[in-house]
Amino acid sequence: MLNNKIVVIIGGAGLLGQSFVQAVEEAHGIAICADIVSAEYPVDITSKESIQALIQKITSVYGKIDAVVNSAYPRTKTFGNHFFDVEYADFCQNTNLQLGGAFLVMQQFAHYFKEQGYGNMVNISSIQGVVAPKFETYEGTPMSSPVAYSAIKAGVIHMTRYVAKYLKGTNIRVNCMSPGGILDGQNELFLKQYKDVCLNKGMLDNADLNGTLLYLLSDLSQYVNGQNIVVDDGFSL
Ligand SMILES: NC(=O)c1ccc[n+]([C@@H]2O[C@H](COP(=O)([O-])OP(=O)(O)OC[C@H]3O[C@@H](n4cnc5c(N)ncnc54)[C@H](O)[C@@H]3O)[C@@H](O)[C@H]2O)c1
Repeated sequence: MLNNKIVVIIGGAGLLGQSFVQAVEEAHGIAICADIVSAEYPVDITSKESIQALIQKITSVYGKIDAVVNSAYPRTKTFGNHFFDVEYADFCQNTNLQLGGAFLVMQQFAHYFKEQGYGNMVNISSIQGVVAPKFETYEGTPMSSPVAYSAIKAGVIHMTRYVAKYLKGTNIRVNCMSPGGILDGQNELFLKQYKDVCLNKGMLDNADLNGTLLYLLSDLSQYVNGQNIVVDDGFSL
């Protein structure tokens, strides 16, 4: 599906990023794993210069970039705090890191893609940016969903629409995927309560997102532009 396509996965060392890198390679694309912790392709999505240096490094090696996926997830240590415990500064910092970072990635790659004459961007949002959290799934656990996360993820979906439309006539498409929760050793009670609000599986494995990612990266979705695809086993219904 991705024969010879150069696909940059930002946040490629993370839970989702690692399986995205593998999926792109299995589809015969060339996956570039870019991450703040990567030695080969380091990038900080909150720095314009860092994103520019990444683009330059990749193009000097491969001569082109077909697509970028932003799966980076910078956050503060107190990001998980419950609503009444969130400090203003913390809300702003997480918004700057995640929503500001998503903006910078799109802006800098759009610059490059315009010069190149085409391009494809995939943002990673979340069901928390589509519907309000189902707080009942956290009952009896210390977990919650951060208020900034809902604001940021809704922002990522709408910024996707903005940038797609702004880039009219450039052969650049911009789409978004909004996954449900991904299995990562969570508390059993939470997993049960979460499954109760889904249709079949409940929390998903990271590989369950790969089909949608490959579709958005491939020419099968050539005229899908400015869209958000929810992959959540019906959580958001
Ligand atoms: N895990 C889930 O359940 C889930 C569900 C829905 C949506 N998402 C979304 O998927 C995306 C990836 O989440 P994840 O679970 O893989 O997170 P993760 O923390 O496992 O991975 C994120 C990666 O981003 C990198 N990173 C952090 N700050 C960075 C920066 N400033 N610049 C570049 N890279 C940076 C980290 O080193 C890490 O490798 C996020 O947008 C998240 O909101 C995750």
